[in-house]
Amino acid sequence: MQKSENPIGIFDSGIGGLTVYKALKEILPQERFVYLGDTARLPYGTKSRRTIVRFSLENAEFLLNFNIKSLVVACNTSSSVAIEELRKRYPDLVILGVIEPSARRALEMSPRGKIGVIGTEATIRSEKYQKILREGGAEVHSRACPLFVPLVEEGWIDHPVTRMVAREYLQGWSDRIDTLILGCTHYPVIKKAISLAVGQDKVLVESGQAVGLELKKILKERKLLRSSPSHEDDLFFVTDFLEKFERVSSLFLGRKVKIEERKFSLC
Ligand code: DGL
Repeated sequence: MQKSENPIGIFDSGIGGLTVYKALKEILPQERFVYLGDTARLPYGTKSRRTIVRFSLENAEFLLNFNIKSLVVACNTSSSVAIEELRKRYPDLVILGVIEPSARRALEMSPRGKIGVIGTEATIRSEKYQKILREGGAEVHSRACPLFVPLVEEGWIDHPVTRMVAREYLQGWSDRIDTLILGCTHYPVIKKAISLAVGQDKVLVESGQAVGLELKKILKERKLLRSSPSHEDDLFFVTDFLEKFERVSSLFLGRKVKIEERKFSLC
């Protein structure tokens, strides 16, 4: 039985999901969060559907130990290929992926329905975003941008190489789109370079904000919103590279967080 004082679970393949955590914390400041970054098995974006589903189910299983009242899949890749399996496995849990809320928000915000979506190979290949956007009447442009994740992980945020890669990936898009979905949790960190490449007049849609607003609505409807702030700290777990995560977390959050390690079997 879920109670309003229970925490919200979030997982991502790594640290990128902190962009989603940050937005959720701003929108739901009273809530307590438990975050899991599966840094040992990152990246998910280049793996097969079967593997991504297995990892996602294991992540959810771990977070359920904390009696979470809802689960946010803060990874576009997992949301693209594993959300149905997660919902099947845990039918009583509120499970929110990043795809549907972000696609809906793009449809709402796009001035002329010309929407671009960028993400990992698995996300773009799954066609999840494209399908929802086309059903919503949009003209859709999509592209996998696999080099962005390692550039962010390297901390090359305001870096000429990142700007060059962004220009290369998004060449010609400035005339084709009016709205761009950042369909990968890492991309908000380099949104300046992306915005320069597509034109600064474009609407950029980030997963975190869209999911946060939708989660708030659902928790309210189900009377699962906390009525007073949690006095316990949020918890952060990673499956590997603890020190790197602690260091890079400040890029995503503007502050360092204390992180614990959780070991999964890697085979
Ligand atoms: N977190 C992943 C996503 O949002 C990007 C990193 C990965 O490939 O695992 O798609």
